[in-house]
Amino acid sequence: MALDFTNFARVFAVAMLLMAAAMSVAYADDDDDDYKFNVNNATWKSECGACHVAYPPGLLPAESWRAIMSGLARHFGSDASLDAASAHEITAFLEKNADTGKHELSDKPLLRITETRRFKSEHSEVAARHWKNPRVKSRANCGACHTTADSGDFSEDNVKIPR
Ligand code: HEC
Ligand code: HEC
Repeated sequence: MALDFTNFARVFAVAMLLMAAAMSVAYADDDDDDYKFNVNNATWKSECGACHVAYPPGLLPAESWRAIMSGLARHFGSDASLDAASAHEITAFLEKNADTGKHELSDKPLLRITETRRFKSEHSEVAARHWKNPRVKSRANCGACHTTADSGDFSEDNVKIPR
């Protein structure tokens, strides 16, 4: 009996180790679970963070960023035009760190993060009254609730909905 139990314990321990290894591989492959984005470009940060939080490149696919960058003169009712060198540098940074998930690809690139399926599913439990709160004003005002949005950290732990 004692011997059987030891064997069982060994087999069990090995099985748990294998499971843990399989799980960590699964997590590493799922980029949707990574809510700390690359925000490491000074030109992008100052130019694209002048009117709103600089939205991390990982929130939209490259097609969307290209469409946004080619329409800056008429940018959501604002003129956000840039000199050619800055535009070039920022476009390269956005493309390199864009969302590569296939789930947002469509014929017409979305220009708003807040219209992506990913945004909608991540916020499906946020009540309508919070979006209407004058301290939030717009869904695009990420920093109203994501206290560490400036550093590219959108993890749940740092969310604080204003009352
Ligand atoms: C002159 C001000 C201004 C500058 C500079 C600016 N934006 Fe914007 N941007 C806006 C306004 C206004 C909106 C609409 C915000 C809203 O709907 O609440 C917006 C919205 C956006 C949105 C959509 C947000 C959403 O999901 O609803 C993206 C993406 C965006 N900007 C990217 C950029 C990028 C990239 C740059 C730098 C190249 C940039 N913006 C620079 C004014 C600006
Ligand atoms: C009204 C407050 C509010 C605003 C504004 C808001 N969010 Fe959120 N967001 C939340 C809440 C609350 C959650 C957590 C939902 C949950 O419990 O799963 C969340 C979750 C997320 C997550 C998933 C985090 C995780 O760890 O699961 C991401 C990514 C995210 N938001 C990005 C954004 C972006 C980008 C913007 C702006 C374009 C934005 N949010 C605007 C409240 C907000």
